[in-house]
Amino acid sequence: MSVIVAPSVLSADFGNLQRDVEMLNRSEAEWIHIDVMDGSYVPNISFGFPVLQAIRKHTTKFCDVHLMVVEPERYFQQFRDSGADMITIHYEAVTHLDSAIHQIQATGAKAGVALNPSTPVSVLKEVIQLLDLVLVMSVNPGFGGQKFIPYSVEKVKEARALINSTGSKAVIEVDGGVGTGNAAQLIHAGANVLVAGNAVFASADPLQTIQQIKNAA
Ligand code: DX5
Ligand code: ZN
Repeated sequence: MSVIVAPSVLSADFGNLQRDVEMLNRSEAEWIHIDVMDGSYVPNISFGFPVLQAIRKHTTKFCDVHLMVVEPERYFQQFRDSGADMITIHYEAVTHLDSAIHQIQATGAKAGVALNPSTPVSVLKEVIQLLDLVLVMSVNPGFGGQKFIPYSVEKVKEARALINSTGSKAVIEVDGGVGTGNAAQLIHAGANVLVAGNAVFASADPLQTIQQIKNAA
């Protein structure tokens, strides 16, 4: 069983972004994961529209935009116009989740909802039918290179059970501390998309690491 690998450019070399995106273009990764951090929802600031536009210019891969931003509704159209194929918002960062999901889809993008480690899967029960993606955060968001939180595996199983029992078309993505050591376990738990930042970009052979994650199970 193979999964989609979504390398996170948060761990790329921003001075050589075109080179790193071109490396991903040659890889088996189908998606590119783009972490937008506003310094308010999370302690860190990463990048915004110009960097997404620059990535879009150099790739036809699926651009998977993860917004760690308060009131993300302010920016859906701009992210779509900048090249986002998927826009994922945090459950904890929006007041009107149902409405926000519809607003994302109205731009033509697919819509995902991310859950922080302490947020239970059950909060998605009502909206699961609307969603294109559920993102299980397996670290506290804000930084690359953190240690995987083991109880995330159980949350992936719960998300899989919720999706299967409702007939939802949502895929399950896992983000944070994912690499060759835990990919198989996550795939068996029901994950469809694995984000990997540090594991890919700190690897001596990123193309091989992507292939190993993809075919881990
Ligand atoms: C963390 C980000 C992740 C991060 C993953 O807040 O959402 O996407 O880039 O990085 P690694 O794979 O290094 O944990
Ligand atoms: Zn992310």
